[in-house]
Amino acid sequence: MKSNPDLADRESVEARASGRLTARGKKVFVKSYGCQMNVYDAARMADVLAPEGFVETNDIGAADLVVLNTCHIREKASDKVFSELGKLKLMKDERQSEGRDLQIAVAGCVAQAEGAEILRRQRAVDIVVGPQSYHRLPELVRQATRGPVIDTEFPAEDKFDHLVAPTEDKVRQRGVSAFLTVQEGCDKFCSFCVVPYTRGAEVSRDAAKIVLEAEALARAGVREITLLGQNVNGYHGRGENDEDWSLAQLLERLARIEGLARLRYTTSHPNDMGEDLIRAHGESPSLMPFLHLPVQSGSDRILNTMNRKHSAEDYLRLVERIRAARPDIALSSDFIVGFPGETDEDFEATLALIHNVGFASTFHFKYSPRAGTPGADLKDQVPEEVKTERLVRLGELVEAQRRAFNLSVVGRNIDVLFEKPGKKPGQVSGKTPYLQTVQIEAPDSLIGEVATVEIVECGANTLFGRIARGEASNRRGEEAF
Ligand code: 5AD
Ligand code: SF4
Repeated sequence: MKSNPDLADRESVEARASGRLTARGKKVFVKSYGCQMNVYDAARMADVLAPEGFVETNDIGAADLVVLNTCHIREKASDKVFSELGKLKLMKDERQSEGRDLQIAVAGCVAQAEGAEILRRQRAVDIVVGPQSYHRLPELVRQATRGPVIDTEFPAEDKFDHLVAPTEDKVRQRGVSAFLTVQEGCDKFCSFCVVPYTRGAEVSRDAAKIVLEAEALARAGVREITLLGQNVNGYHGRGENDEDWSLAQLLERLARIEGLARLRYTTSHPNDMGEDLIRAHGESPSLMPFLHLPVQSGSDRILNTMNRKHSAEDYLRLVERIRAARPDIALSSDFIVGFPGETDEDFEATLALIHNVGFASTFHFKYSPRAGTPGADLKDQVPEEVKTERLVRLGELVEAQRRAFNLSVVGRNIDVLFEKPGKKPGQVSGKTPYLQTVQIEAPDSLIGEVATVEIVECGANTLFGRIARGEASNRRGEEAF
């Protein structure tokens, strides 16, 4: 059909008058660093720019706007941003020599922490926008055509009320497993951590809004939702009955949404692990038996200087209670080695805790002093080579545990949610309830289905198997044992 030029013209005049559509046909490339919340935020940034005419691209070379959604948690993560910006500057110079432009935005926690300093270090940057202001991106993109702009406010309005829902097609493109932020920010102030400064105070979203977002995801074919929050198990949002709901109450409500087969949540703090949440792990079929519960250290002395407000023994008792409710639960944790003052004895206590618990997976890091956090000012910073040595030792121990955990499922029948095509043609890839990756030879039509798989082999990072006798189901993983 031929388009009507008059109509098109009128539309664009109206759009310009209303402040929309400054960027019809332009492409945005969003690159995310760091945590899963940044992955969620990156998608929402693309969503908020879509009505402005920006189409998301995976090809940075084709982009008119590049957004780096940054992470400030450790020095290495922050440094990456500036090296990436160096490359983007060259790209921008090349474009400009051809008479075209490239807009560069720095979003996320580095933007929040460094603000104007980013513009001083890299003049090619057009926009600096913090994690609480990215709903204003359309306006910032417009303003930036007149010169660099910074927005690192913690605005009074709730950014979630200003975000744009993705189309069903967009949700489908993003896959059958989705993230959904339910809580943001942190009031815990662990002495090593920048999050309370970059993400702000702890805020929980209203349950009704979360339910609406989850229902829309499910309608578009999402089968698994991972609820996100820096202290997600401390969730205390307004419930549908106007009373405050705990995370367990929210999970119970979400479990009733048709089509959702699996629920997960991350990241949790040991001190917010409520009795009802522990019970939910034993009772809720859709709540997956995998829990990321960072402990950081096994030494009480170090936990104390870290301001964690719990002991190693508290953590071990908590794990016992969780395992009593859900015996097959797989646990994962974060560890920091070389926190100021950490002696060999303290480090041995961390290894002892790991031996004691047995983790299915972990993230482990060398302590990275972050300006503005109390940890950075502590005496007794641990030498780099000691940190490296401890990281290697801890890594060997947790790797052995991870391997043992993966081997323990070989020969079993486990429910797998298939998410995407596998590495090789004819393969599909999915996840067990314990978050292990599984590949099998099967048609793509299995994507979005939960099917019982007989695990026959354990590779370095992947399990291999075949469909067990009986067909696709929505059963919980536990029943397959
Ligand atoms: N240095 C090293 N690791 C850190 N983490 C947070 N801050 C630091 C830091 N300054 C780790 C913690 C946290 C995870 C997200 O990152 O283990 O749980
Ligand atoms: Fe950082 Fe501690 Fe808050 Fe986690 S609980 S975000 S480690 S301050």
